[in-house]
Amino acid sequence: MQTDSSFTFVLFGGTGDLSMRKILPALFEAHRAGGMLADSGKIVAVARHAADRAEYLQWVNEHVKPHVSKNGVDEAAWTSFLARIEFVKIDLGNPEDFAQLRDAVRDLPGIRVFYLATGPSLFVPICHALASVGLNENARIVLEKPLGYDLKSSNAINDAVGEIFAEEQIYRIDHYLGKEPVQNLLALRFGNALFEPLWRREWVESIQITIAEELGVEARGDFYDNTGALRDMVQNHLLQLLSIVAMEPPHSMDSDSVRDEKLRVLRALKPIDPNEIGKVAVRGQYHAGGIRGTPVPAYATEPGVKADSTTETFVALKVEIENWRWAGVPFFLRTGKRLADRVAEIVVNFRPVPHSALGVSALRAGANRLVIRLQPNETIRLYCLAKQPGEGMNLASVHLDLAFDQFFREGQMEAYQRLLLDVINGRLALFVRRDEQEAAWRWVEPILNEWMASHKPPKPYAAGTWGPAAASAMLAQHGTCWLEEEN
Ligand code: BG6
Repeated sequence: MQTDSSFTFVLFGGTGDLSMRKILPALFEAHRAGGMLADSGKIVAVARHAADRAEYLQWVNEHVKPHVSKNGVDEAAWTSFLARIEFVKIDLGNPEDFAQLRDAVRDLPGIRVFYLATGPSLFVPICHALASVGLNENARIVLEKPLGYDLKSSNAINDAVGEIFAEEQIYRIDHYLGKEPVQNLLALRFGNALFEPLWRREWVESIQITIAEELGVEARGDFYDNTGALRDMVQNHLLQLLSIVAMEPPHSMDSDSVRDEKLRVLRALKPIDPNEIGKVAVRGQYHAGGIRGTPVPAYATEPGVKADSTTETFVALKVEIENWRWAGVPFFLRTGKRLADRVAEIVVNFRPVPHSALGVSALRAGANRLVIRLQPNETIRLYCLAKQPGEGMNLASVHLDLAFDQFFREGQMEAYQRLLLDVINGRLALFVRRDEQEAAWRWVEPILNEWMASHKPPKPYAAGTWGPAAASAMLAQHGTCWLEEEN
């Protein structure tokens, strides 16, 4: 992909964890690949923990370089990448400092991108300070999650940012939307005539969407303890995946056509009835356990976490979509930290054949199922029944596999790289529009409120398992089970 879109990419939080692990490595990869970033494009890092450009570049060398190119760094590309980087020392608490930023970017070329890799409490002050020196013109602003803590606080941020930037200047990141397999889901659904006719209540019995992590809260105990899995993963990543799985075919792939269809799904989510919450929502918290033989401590003993914390590290939900396509089909969503495996996948369970001339086993037996694995090892697997070789008509489950890395050996792109290129090139389709975000909060909030009001602690699960038993019981009520429980 060749580009001539010049840009000035201003990175707030230039010495933060996200800049170190994701943003600068992604920009480097785009630079190294050649042709993706205009030669004249500049990166202006903003931070206060470095005295000047030389000190900042030293920090980049020490902290960012270890995170780029797993197979070794291309030194020539690294040196030319560093040449793109400028540095401005700003105390974000001091709006007067922004005059220096204005002077630093005044003569730099192209569209200005302001990436706010900072805590959300700084979003509004930074926007005001940018406007006070006229930097909101001809600019795009990128907001990292979490964008707010609930509907009210997210609206407050969106209102304040919206006074300074128009909606089409605002890029709200949900990095799941930048993942290659999530893009592939769109290709699978809307590029093949095979699946779409079956993608509806008449043929689909249930759908599972899981994002399971082996990692715990790492160094983010303090943040996580005030957030929990529902806000951290469900309100954004899981509901975005759900909306892509369930949306109607958009009329085109332009940003608003796709986002309009996702919004329709989010607005059609059946509100959770507070009296039924025990049947449709499970929250859990991990206790001490072991991941692949290595002991790990309980969540409540992690640094930054309160010893009597009731924050959930696991959520499982039964969700329904109130429209003609999906009425009555349960969507089971699940996410958690310190689970038995790191896996993100979507399981579409099709209905069994209405009558089997081949015997009862043909009605179930792990067939009629599509499993879309997003990570690790992106694959699509279609389970069917086949006759076992030999005498008699004995059936067995077999599968057709599509392993993407066997087809496409090159060109894979990390989520952040794709999303940053989209911001620079003005493509909004993979960013969350304000109305989508509001609809997601509106649906999630009653669950949060009910959990808070009930004062019930989350259900315990041992680290290294698949979460509390109640998550399995919830599916058993519908005559089904999580995919790994079948094996
Ligand atoms: C982030 C969450 O948005 O997504 C983290 O804040 C989580 O808690 C991460 O670990 C998971 O992303 P990925 O790409 O590793 O699946």
